[in-house]
Amino acid sequence: MGKSRHDYSFRPEPRWEEGRFVPPGPLPIERSVSDWDRIDWIRYLFASSKNPIFGQTVESLEGFDDVATGMGRTFFTPSHPDTIRETFVAKADALRLSGIRNAILKPVLREGLLTSEGERWKHDRRALAPIFTPRHVNGFAQGMASTTEGHLDRLLSKETVAFDQVCVDLTYQVLSDVLFSGELDGGRQASLHDIDRFLSSMGRPDPFDLTNVPQWVPRFTRIGRMGIVKRLRTRIGQLGENRRTRIDTGETVPDDLLTLLLTSTDAGSDPLSEDQLVDQLITFIAAGHETTSRALTWLFYLLSQDTEARARLEDEVDGLDITQPPQNWPDALPFTRACLDEAMRLYPPAPFLSRELNRDETLAGKALPEGAIVFGNLWMVHRHRQLWDQPDAFVPERFLPEAKTKIGRFQYLPFGLGPRVCIGARFAQIEAMILTTLIARRYRLSLDGPHPWPLARVTIRPEKPLMMRVEKR
Ligand code: HEM
Repeated sequence: MGKSRHDYSFRPEPRWEEGRFVPPGPLPIERSVSDWDRIDWIRYLFASSKNPIFGQTVESLEGFDDVATGMGRTFFTPSHPDTIRETFVAKADALRLSGIRNAILKPVLREGLLTSEGERWKHDRRALAPIFTPRHVNGFAQGMASTTEGHLDRLLSKETVAFDQVCVDLTYQVLSDVLFSGELDGGRQASLHDIDRFLSSMGRPDPFDLTNVPQWVPRFTRIGRMGIVKRLRTRIGQLGENRRTRIDTGETVPDDLLTLLLTSTDAGSDPLSEDQLVDQLITFIAAGHETTSRALTWLFYLLSQDTEARARLEDEVDGLDITQPPQNWPDALPFTRACLDEAMRLYPPAPFLSRELNRDETLAGKALPEGAIVFGNLWMVHRHRQLWDQPDAFVPERFLPEAKTKIGRFQYLPFGLGPRVCIGARFAQIEAMILTTLIARRYRLSLDGPHPWPLARVTIRPEKPLMMRVEKR
């Protein structure tokens, strides 16, 4: 192997720099993409099919808006905030979802909001927007808090826990209560295990997807997963139909998101078919469950290292009168919110906005052909050397209300942007704030195993279980 080739296996140790904790993450690739030969590309494709976090080069972290060609494709990586706005907002109609992303997600999520396009997406986005308004989402806060209270002691009862799994479990319980009032399994956890299994396999691109092998060629990496998906779809479909019948016959039904979804969309033009209902519900689970749990996982890991920040956060949440929960959780706890924002900067839970151009288009003054890959890489933008001080370090203070005004609208994008911005952003923020507050008021978590290494699937998660020691406060 030539010396100048990138070593994808090298893992720098976490460290302290200028009094700040710098958590684990890959070193950027030194060699400029324009100098890559076929072997560089093959090694890169191989490494990124295992872990797509290896996207950024030194050049891309210091300069802006890379264009590269390789393997017969043009790749455009918008990273200047003006270009990000131009690409994902002003010229959003020049984009379609990328073939790779759809190859990974569409077999499972079908025509759900995350994967549909064109008129179908426009119609559904309009129909679904009303159920995610602040009024409705705030209305779920109390339920989120009581579900969390109900599960916390069980999940954190051991001396040492795999904390990433605790977060997955907790956010599933919250989502399943808010979505279906826990009726999916009648209180059992079978669906949680199915969802867990399908989510962990879902994000892994098949090497065929990365090299544009046509979709009719079977992806062997995906075969086992389809049985799980079928089972889950059947269960969700039955629950939806049962609820619709109960609504139609005037029965009293739970006041949850499923009821809201059925009553508000059915009141519109055409009622959702059973398949459409299942597509949307499974999309909410896939998009909303793992993302929020990863935000919490990385946050508590970072706090376990920066114990000063942890003490400050504990002071803040201890000061909250929990008998009078705030109307606006994020504003009521500014330092806690800043820690969460900073955790999502360093480890954006949904790191990639992958698109393709549906026509020839000029972006950042560069003429790009139809079919060019447009790769919004939030990991890169959130750590760009020209946009952030101490870009790789955990510095929550940068997100405190006054300091935050210096952060540009298009350089911090954990929830994406433009017409396809996360529909559940408010839901996720409130949920994450409530869970963080309730965990930190009662427990203190310290790392009890190796530092986590970020592994990108659809979300960024620790490669191995994040073992944490639990101490009751
Ligand atoms: C911390 C938690 C979350 C993060 C970081 C997050 C992030 C994102 C991002 C970056 C996108 C845009 C993807 C793209 O443009 O390619 C997105 C879209 C989406 N998110 Fe979230 N999300 C979170 C939680 C949720 C929740 C709780 C729900 C629902 C209950 C949800 C539902 C969706 C849906 C349906 C879309 C597709 C929107 C569309 O294309 O119209 N997300 N999310």
